[in-house]
Amino acid sequence: MKIAAAAISTALGESLAELVRIVAEQAQQEDIALYLVGGVVRDLLLARKNLDLDFVLEGDAIAFSHRLASLFGGRLRSHAPFGTAKWLLDSADKITLPSAHRPHHIDLAAARSESYAQPAALPTVARGDIKDDLQRRDFTINTLAIQLSPATEMWRVLDFHGGLADLKRQWIRALHPRSFIDDPTRILRALRFSQRLDFVIEPRTAQWIQVALPMLGRITGERLQNEIALIWHEPRPEQVILKLKAIGALKNIHPAWRISSQLPLWFEGCREQTVPWPAATDDLPHLYWHIIMAGMTSVDAQAICGRLGLASSLTRSITACANVIENAARLQDPALRPSQLTQFLENRPPAALQAAWQALMDAPDAQQTIANFMNLWRKQIPAINGHDLKKMRLPPGPRYKEILERLRSARIDGEIQSEAEEWALLHQLLEDSDSSKS
Ligand code: CTP
Repeated sequence: MKIAAAAISTALGESLAELVRIVAEQAQQEDIALYLVGGVVRDLLLARKNLDLDFVLEGDAIAFSHRLASLFGGRLRSHAPFGTAKWLLDSADKITLPSAHRPHHIDLAAARSESYAQPAALPTVARGDIKDDLQRRDFTINTLAIQLSPATEMWRVLDFHGGLADLKRQWIRALHPRSFIDDPTRILRALRFSQRLDFVIEPRTAQWIQVALPMLGRITGERLQNEIALIWHEPRPEQVILKLKAIGALKNIHPAWRISSQLPLWFEGCREQTVPWPAATDDLPHLYWHIIMAGMTSVDAQAICGRLGLASSLTRSITACANVIENAARLQDPALRPSQLTQFLENRPPAALQAAWQALMDAPDAQQTIANFMNLWRKQIPAINGHDLKKMRLPPGPRYKEILERLRSARIDGEIQSEAEEWALLHQLLEDSDSSKS
């Protein structure tokens, strides 16, 4: 089957189609076999938007990319061990594309084969042809390619694995039974694509996934973390997470990983941005990392962060969020003064409190405490400061901190409301301590 050139322009837009033609013509002149591959081909055939152009060529992709850059401008980033190059187009001034439609980069790779010396380890790569390159991929719908060079073959669709039929059947189908054992991150990918495209996982593929689940315990935290981070960019990531839970993937990543039945509501809340204080973060992936672990104890949340190799600052924030939620009773305790609640909430990252507020949707009093802290209490700073105490010839030492904290607490609790009242309280504190000494 050949695809119509006009269909490419319709699917990709004029600018991307022009880029494809530029790269194709260069390969044709050099007599190099060149293919458009991967997600962009899948999405083009599904009429879905995708701006990531991935090319594979049977030859030296790095040398070829250098020639493109010397003809058209732009910068190159290459990775010799894999024979891959990223052509960064921001300064490719000899290509006349409207800058609004200019992709940031395109990827070019030498066709390669892969073999897995050990399950769940990174593969060993070797030069190969396009057939090898498509053979190493995860799902049939991702093995489709469009040939661009030589010119006689231009726009021919390569389909060695029944990808076209699976696009029609709406199937996510792996190529062979060891696919998920070789690369268990594909388990997460299968569910991500299934959710995104609304495709079903073909029954035999689902069995292969089940068999490979224990291999999830063998991959590095970093690879898992990267794969989960990709899920955060889906429109409804919680659905992918629920599917991962349903097949038992999460507990194979870490046995303590539990998911609240309220998770979908929490995710939706994050997207709706309903928190009642200004300057709440709209960094959804960052919030999702917190909310995914919001229903667990802080000890379990910390263990899972460790398993995923999350950065220590993110781990601290996620753990702080889980800890606030596990202390919901404290946040609702009418016997506690605002200053005591402030002490409990202080020094926790704002995103942790935002996610905790979201997850406490069934505890409005606890939510109100967090909102009061964010809107009012944390901003209460006494007018009197350390310099004032120094001017009063008070000997510097831990007493300063005690006094200033006492003044702040009095402000937060509404005992005092003005600077004059602060001074009055300060004098009283000093008198009390003098009389207790004598
Ligand atoms: N691939 C794979 N196994 C993986 C990751 C990637 O086989 N663990 C292959 C897939 O066939 C994919 C190609 O490498 O088509 C490029 O990967 P990626 O850019 O992640 O895939 P896309 O399909 O472009 O994904 P997306 O649409 O999410 O960008």
